[in-house]
Order: sequence, then structure tokens, then C-alpha cells
Amino acid sequence: MMNQAKIVGALLLAMTWTGCVYDDLDTLGTPFDCDTFETTYGMDILPLVEDHCQGCHSGPTPAAGLAFGSHAEIAQFAEIMVDRMDLPEGDPQLMPQSGKLDSCSIARFHAWIEAGKPNN
Ligand code: HEC
Repeated sequence: MMNQAKIVGALLLAMTWTGCVYDDLDTLGTPFDCDTFETTYGMDILPLVEDHCQGCHSGPTPAAGLAFGSHAEIAQFAEIMVDRMDLPEGDPQLMPQSGKLDSCSIARFHAWIEAGKPNN
């Protein structure tokens, strides 16, 4: 009787734990193997914006009139940028329009904002 209870308990614990890992990956957007502590503008933020945003948001006639070229511009618009990146897949306002970025990249963008948007 005692052993059976222990096994059921262990199984429940295992199921709960697995559930948490799933929640992390799917909804919280910060996978546990995503290191946001060493996020820098030069290594993480600028390459992301170059690869996924500047195709439309740069040059003389940027999409929505918004150019994300310099550190000053990216810092100025960072909150509305990440708001668009955070939208669910399939949302017509999601940026980039081609599909949601991986959760670690988005988590690093948030971390950079929280760090005060340094030009590092
Ligand atoms: C394929 C072209 C394209 C790419 C790539 C793209 N955008 Fe956009 N973006 C647009 C267009 C077109 C609009 C205007 C329509 C709209 O608001 O959805 C827009 C609008 C926006 C707006 C709204 C501006 C406002 O007035 O509120 C933000 C913020 C934005 N984009 C951020 C981003 C970010 C951040 C990225 C990269 C992660 C990105 N976009 C990549 C085409 C693009």
C-alpha cells in the first residue's frame, strides 16, 4: 500500500515537472537553456534587426515610416518592436511578417531593454 502511494506520487511529480518544462518553452518564451545574461547590442540585437527587420524598416521609405538603422533608432522603438515580435504566430500584426522568431531571440531582446538598452 505504502509503495503504491509512493509510485503514484513519483509519477504525478514527473508529470507535473514535464508540464512545467513545456510551459516554459511554449508560453513563457524563455527556454531554460537560453542565456540572456550576456546579451549585447552588437552580438544579439543588431544582428537580429539586420536579419529580420531592416529588409523593410530601413532606407528612404521604410515600412510604416519606421527605420531601425542606428542604435538610437532601435533604442527609441524597442518597446513597440518587441510588442510586435511577441504576438502569436498567425497574428496579422506579427513582426517579422514571415513568421515568429525563436523564443530565445525574443527573450534576449527583452533582456536588453531591461538592461537599459546599452550600446555594447
Ligand atoms: C516584409 C517586410 C517587413 C519586415 C521584415 C518587418 N516589418 Fe515591421 N512592418 C512592415 C509593414 C508593411 C508595416 C505596416 C503595417 C503594420 O503595421 O503591420 C510594419 C509595421 C511595423 C510596426 C508598427 C509601427 C507602428 O506604427 O506602430 C512595428 C513596431 C514593426 N513593424 C516592427 C518590426 C520589427 C521589430 C521587425 C523585425 C523583427 C519587422 N517589423 C520586420 C513590414 C515589415
